[in-house]
Amino acid sequence: MRKAVATAFSTCNLRTNFPGIRKTCMQMVEVLKELGPDGPVDMDNATCRMSLDVTGQVGFGRDMGATRALLGRDEPGQAISATQAALAEAEMGLIDPLRRYKLWRPDVWAGKAATRRYHEMISRLMADIRRERPSEATIAAHLLDVVDPRTGKTLTDEFLQPQIAQLFLAGSETTGHQASWAMYAVSQDAEVEAKITEELASLCLLATHKSPQPRPLQWDDLKRLTYLNAVIKESMRMYPVTGAVPLRTPVKGGGDVTLGGGKLVIPEGAVLHMPIAAIHLSPALWDNPDRLDPDRWLQENAEYVPNAMLNGKCVKRYMPFAEGARNCVAQTLAQLNLTTALAQLYGSFTFRLASEMGTAEDVRAAEQTMVTLSCVKGMMMHAIPRVAPVRAGSRQPFCEKQFCQRREVLQSRKRVHSSGYSIEAQGSLIKLGDNRVHNYLGQPELV
Ligand code: HEM
Repeated sequence: MRKAVATAFSTCNLRTNFPGIRKTCMQMVEVLKELGPDGPVDMDNATCRMSLDVTGQVGFGRDMGATRALLGRDEPGQAISATQAALAEAEMGLIDPLRRYKLWRPDVWAGKAATRRYHEMISRLMADIRRERPSEATIAAHLLDVVDPRTGKTLTDEFLQPQIAQLFLAGSETTGHQASWAMYAVSQDAEVEAKITEELASLCLLATHKSPQPRPLQWDDLKRLTYLNAVIKESMRMYPVTGAVPLRTPVKGGGDVTLGGGKLVIPEGAVLHMPIAAIHLSPALWDNPDRLDPDRWLQENAEYVPNAMLNGKCVKRYMPFAEGARNCVAQTLAQLNLTTALAQLYGSFTFRLASEMGTAEDVRAAEQTMVTLSCVKGMMMHAIPRVAPVRAGSRQPFCEKQFCQRREVLQSRKRVHSSGYSIEAQGSLIKLGDNRVHNYLGQPELV
């Protein structure tokens, strides 16, 4: 099964899928433009939606509508709510294996209903792909062609449906959380963001006043985005979303496994945990492991421990997708999705962490690992257009400088608010001078 699906993630296949992935990521840019910079957006939720849509696109040639739904309201049966609720229930089940027997609890019934809705969504999708075969480059087309060596026939729905269900669960929150951790890391380091924008500008992928619409990202650009890819790698080192998950059992019947010239014996049948996060952050393996330093990925062989060999092989210290025969089968897709999304997002916006997230310490303190690593508070951010569309009547396009000035005004208004002033009634204001502002419609007002 893995072998058959793996070909769906080949470079050639992903190249065919690239325009669809780019379009799906671009949808998020459009949605963020529509939402505007004022109200913070939960970028973790947004990127999880985007990666669910990418999985739908690459997997089944379907637009799941999760990113667009950010502009409206999710209904319980919709792809994003169904997937998130089913995943949350699966996580609760991992924490409490007896949960499914606790039928006196209303939340257990709600969880069962959520899981049912998710499987209904998957079986609708299954019926769709049986009725109308998706393009050959989709994962679905690869799945439909898998032949069971025991029967010589293609696989039944009963067998395929759980595979599809696993793909959506494995594909959405992993990439989504990873993208939002990368954005968090960048929001904390102006120099790193400056280098990203410099690289994008050098490839004409950055919105500027002269060219407000960057040129579309092309497949060949991906390998030229050396620094952005280094930032992604570094954020996967510091915030590995599956840092606590993988478990491995030595091959049955292979006897005990001896490592380190006899120093460590792993008894046959023992279950091993791969502590990815601990390896990625170990001071024994990395210089300044707590520092975001994308430049370390510009050196050759950065994923190996320098000057260390084990059984004649270099020793790996970087494994965000795990290692071995059951590592992430879709890592090429995940990497492509991350680069495409972040290149397009940073090409059009700069992101500022919203005040409700608190300080960097507050964000780290709110980390939670269920199946994947996320932040309890989501990742609330202001998406500030690099070059904003000129609004009707306004004198200048809205940009980051104005965003900061406006926040200043709104904050001072908040103080006024306590003495009876209504911010809502005044709308959004842009500061012009000492005490003059004009609103979105360009009408001057007095503060
Ligand atoms: C940044 C994003 C991602 C990360 C960090 C990640 C990480 C991982 C890791 C660590 C494993 C191994 C788990 C274990 O050993 O127990 C895994 C397995 C898997 N991943 Fe991913 N993953 C990502 C994205 C995706 C995407 C986008 C898909 C599919 C659309 C996907 C599908 C799978 C599947 C099907 C497996 C099971 C493979 C097997 O058992 O042979 N992953 N992933």
